[in-house]
Amino acid sequence: MATMWILFTLLVGTACSCHLHIDHSSEPNSLSLMIERNYTSIISNNMANRHLSRNLTHHHKTALINVRIFDGTTLQAPSTLIIDGDRIGPRCHDTSPHPCGATSVYDAQGKALLPGLIDSHAHPLTISDLESLTRAGVTTAVLAHCPDPALCASLSNQPPGLTSIVTGSFIATTPDSQHALTLLSPNQTNLLIRSLNDTAPFIANQVAHGAEFIKIIGSAPGPGLSQDMQSALVAAAHRHNRQAIAHASSALAYTQAAQAGVDQIHHAPLDVPLPASFVTPHVRSFKAVCPTLTMMRGIASLGSGNFSVALESVRMLHEAGVKVLAGTDANGNGRTPFQVRFGTSLHDELENLVLSRLTPVQALNAAARVPAEVWGLMDKGVIREGKMADLILVDGDPSVDVRDVRRVVKVWARGVEFVGI
Ligand SMILES: *[C@@H]1O[C@H](CO)[C@@H](O)[C@H](O)[C@H]1NC(C)=O
Ligand SMILES: *[C@@H]1O[C@H](CO)[C@@H](O)[C@H](O)[C@H]1NC(C)=O
Ligand SMILES: *[C@@H]1O[C@H](CO)[C@@H](O)[C@H](O)[C@H]1NC(C)=O
Ligand SMILES: *[C@@H]1O[C@H](CO)[C@@H](O)[C@H](O)[C@H]1NC(C)=O
Ligand SMILES: *[C@@H]1O[C@H](CO)[C@@H](O)[C@H](O)[C@H]1NC(C)=O
Ligand SMILES: [Zn+2]
Repeated sequence: MATMWILFTLLVGTACSCHLHIDHSSEPNSLSLMIERNYTSIISNNMANRHLSRNLTHHHKTALINVRIFDGTTLQAPSTLIIDGDRIGPRCHDTSPHPCGATSVYDAQGKALLPGLIDSHAHPLTISDLESLTRAGVTTAVLAHCPDPALCASLSNQPPGLTSIVTGSFIATTPDSQHALTLLSPNQTNLLIRSLNDTAPFIANQVAHGAEFIKIIGSAPGPGLSQDMQSALVAAAHRHNRQAIAHASSALAYTQAAQAGVDQIHHAPLDVPLPASFVTPHVRSFKAVCPTLTMMRGIASLGSGNFSVALESVRMLHEAGVKVLAGTDANGNGRTPFQVRFGTSLHDELENLVLSRLTPVQALNAAARVPAEVWGLMDKGVIREGKMADLILVDGDPSVDVRDVRRVVKVWARGVEFVGI
């Protein structure tokens, strides 16, 4: 229970004013203690910062010369790459001072160019959180829970030069779950799932409010969604053409999520290793796992769970051919016992994935090509003509030593260089 409680409290960041709120209204048994969160000032700050001129150096056409491109397997020999607007330009073999008509030229001196990194599980709330992500080369972040559609809208569609987000739904959970008890404000109780009847309307409502995927809380062995409810939520998500993503930090929650037919499972068991049967094709019908090992390690370091169990499960799933996504559970909640920083935590996660026996190349792909495929981000994840110019330039060779991904020199988000590395 301690483990789950910590995970739940870490689920939503706060830079907000949060008041403990005793509710004496309709549901004394289930929602007596709730935390009211007021996002009003964060949203207005986010909206104001969006319009600040951030001194972006936006060249129509930039040439990176002598750059070694990571092609998903290895670093290629030094060559020239053109950034044309927000896209990667055609191959350029021109060695003149302005290669292929570039208005700006940067000599990368043999440094490594990677696709912009994708954090498949994070909880940014503010523009400053997005800047921390961009600074570390994380040019796309999946918002793993949307506490308020207006907040998520305030983070979306930023000008180029800053991290883009993929927005999840509000969490699907029951009134008696730890998530509900710790996360919801009084005016959000209508979003709780009380019976099977609530599942389809919940999904329709979330899709109407902009959810690009549906987040389902598997909280077994604690109180929460029944197997039937999880299955109904997944079916409804699929009817709306949305992926269903399960939160699961125990072997039992993993098993239920797989049985419900989810598309992805996030977090990793900290209690007991997954049963060996879990990797049989029938059970692993899901597309991918995002183990958030950095968070699991943090929780285990507090004495709530066994990190070796998480590593072992990821190794087993990876060896069975399950796609692995790099995700951090980064959040800015100052009240939580364990915090995960935005941005650099994805570098930590790559090292943790290597501890689970992924090679450095596989770990890099878990933060680029693989999530681009799994999330349907067709123009991201690889460095190729016509793709989005989300790029990170680093010293060294992270395809050999993944720690080199920390040695960030420059970052471009949608063709615009991030200022303030
Ligand atoms: C939320 O905060 C804003 C200002 O930060 C305040 O005007 C508003 O009344 C607050 N709303 C609630 C419900 O506390
Ligand atoms: C933007 O550039 C101007 C002129 O170069 C400078 O005075 C200003 O301080 C810069 N603003 C920021 C936020 O860096
Ligand atoms: C709850 O109230 C806050 C402010 O009091 C508002 O910003 C938010 O949109 C409300 N949420 C719902 C689901 O009605
Ligand atoms: C669910 O809907 C059915 C049919 O409308 C109704 O008979 C049943 O009482 C509802 N169950 C709950 C728990 O609301
Ligand atoms: C942690 O899990 C590993 C791998 O399953 C196991 O070998 C080890 O004994 C466990 N440690 C504790 C303290 O339970
Ligand atoms: Zn999370």
